This record gives sequence, C-alpha cells and structure tokens, in this order.
Amino acid sequence: MERVIGIIGGSGLYGIEGLDNGAWVRVTTPWGDPSDEIFTGTLGGVKMAFLPRHGRGHVYSPSTVPYRANIDAMKRLGVTDLVSVSACGSFREEMAPGDFVIVDQFIDRTFAREKSFFGTGCVAHVSLAHPTCPTLSAACFAAAEGVKVHMGGTYLAMEGPQFSSLAESKMYREHWGADVIGMTNMPEAKLAREAEICYASVAMITDYDSWHPAHGEVDISEIIATLGANSEAARKLIANLPGKLGAAHESCEHGCNTALDFAIMTAPD
Ligand code: ADE
Repeated sequence: MERVIGIIGGSGLYGIEGLDNGAWVRVTTPWGDPSDEIFTGTLGGVKMAFLPRHGRGHVYSPSTVPYRANIDAMKRLGVTDLVSVSACGSFREEMAPGDFVIVDQFIDRTFAREKSFFGTGCVAHVSLAHPTCPTLSAACFAAAEGVKVHMGGTYLAMEGPQFSSLAESKMYREHWGADVIGMTNMPEAKLAREAEICYASVAMITDYDSWHPAHGEVDISEIIATLGANSEAARKLIANLPGKLGAAHESCEHGCNTALDFAIMTAPD
C-alpha cells in the first residue's frame, strides 16, 4: 500500500513548508468539517497531509476540536501513518521544557468530547492496551534532530481549557504515574485506532505544570515562548520522517491496520 504520512500540528505549528505540489484541500466528512483545510503534497517522494488541529488562527479549543472529522478526513486522504504534534506540561524533573517525549501510554481524563465512530447501529470495541504504534514511534524518535527526545512516557489527557490545580498536578504525578499532561491527544489516539491508522505522539514539553516548587504556575506566555523556540525542531522531525519510513506502508506488524478485525459486536445484515 502507498504510504501517506499525516501530521496533526498543535499549538505553534499551523503549517509545514517544503512540500512538492503543496495545496490546501477541503475535505468533508459525515462528522462535520475538520478543523481546517488539509495541506497535501509530497516530501522526498512520500505523500504528506498536514492538518492544524486548532485551525489556522487557533480557533478551536481542546474541547471543541472536531476530532472525529479530523481523523475521518485523514482516512479519506489515505493516511496510513498519523503523527500528532502537541504541547504538554511535564511531571518529571528530567523531562525539561524544550525536550520532546514520544508518548506511548495515555490516561484519559477528558469528558466532554465524542470519542468513538461506533455507537448506535454498529458497535465495536477496539483494543487500546498499546495505543501508539511502536514502528511509527521509533521512526519519529529516529527523525528527531537537534532536540533531546525521551522515548516513552505516559500522557495524561485533561479536558481543560483551564490548567490543573496544584492538588491535581501532584496527584497525577505522584499517585497516577503520569509523565506529561496535555489537552488534545485524547480522543485522537482512540479514533485513529478505530480508523485503523498507525498513530504516534510527539509531545513538546513547554512547562512543568504547577507541581514544581521552583517553577510556579503554568503561564501561556511561557508556553508560547518555548513552542516558538521548538518549532524548528518539530519541522526538522517532520522533514526527516519520509526518509525514515519510505514510500510503501506494509500492513502494520503491531496490528494497527487490523484493529477492527475482532472488534465489531453487531451482527452483519
Ligand atoms: N499544554 C502545555 N502545557 C500544559 C499543561 N501544563 N497542562 C495541560 N496542557 C498543557
């Protein structure tokens, strides 16, 4: 199968450069419109599709991002490998602002979002024990350049838009074992699995949330400044990905592309 690399860019990453035959295309879905048009083209001979998660101009909050339309639009464009790029706070001293984390686990604390393509009419329960694709995650790690990257980490997805209280921050860190916190990777990872797309998450650390005694509260200006300093590293990682992955996508050895094979409960007509 031909590989198509999808990128969902978070805060600070609203476009990518350097694509051959680059064009913004409008995709419609039964779940409504995605966050924006999708920038398509090729890079090193590999098809790419880029979607700004919050829309150009940052018009969708984490709770109002049309997650189902976004994943469905990527699927309609033939995306086989989907890389999420997003900002996050850190619960670990050694995971410092400016570093990247290739997330491999999630704790989903979001509650005001549509989280499944399946409901009435067709019911499916996919496995999410390993919510990210190890092959795509390894490619993201290998593609990173000029930035410290931590391989593996548990991402706590919170609803927002307010940041955590100090009590929540300490609980997630000390008792729940979370490494980073953000507002957008869920339900994205769940929906990508239901759509049988390989998914990897590159989380860009912008702050120490509120637990760190030497760093005080989270401040959006600190987040924006760190993202600005890091957007070049994110762009490099994306630019290097086609070379790490190649133009052909073999069926995922970890089962991402066959997630529905044993998941559908509803009897066929
Ligand atoms: N995004 C960036 N930093 C964050 C934090 N501390 N909490 C939630 N989302 C974030």
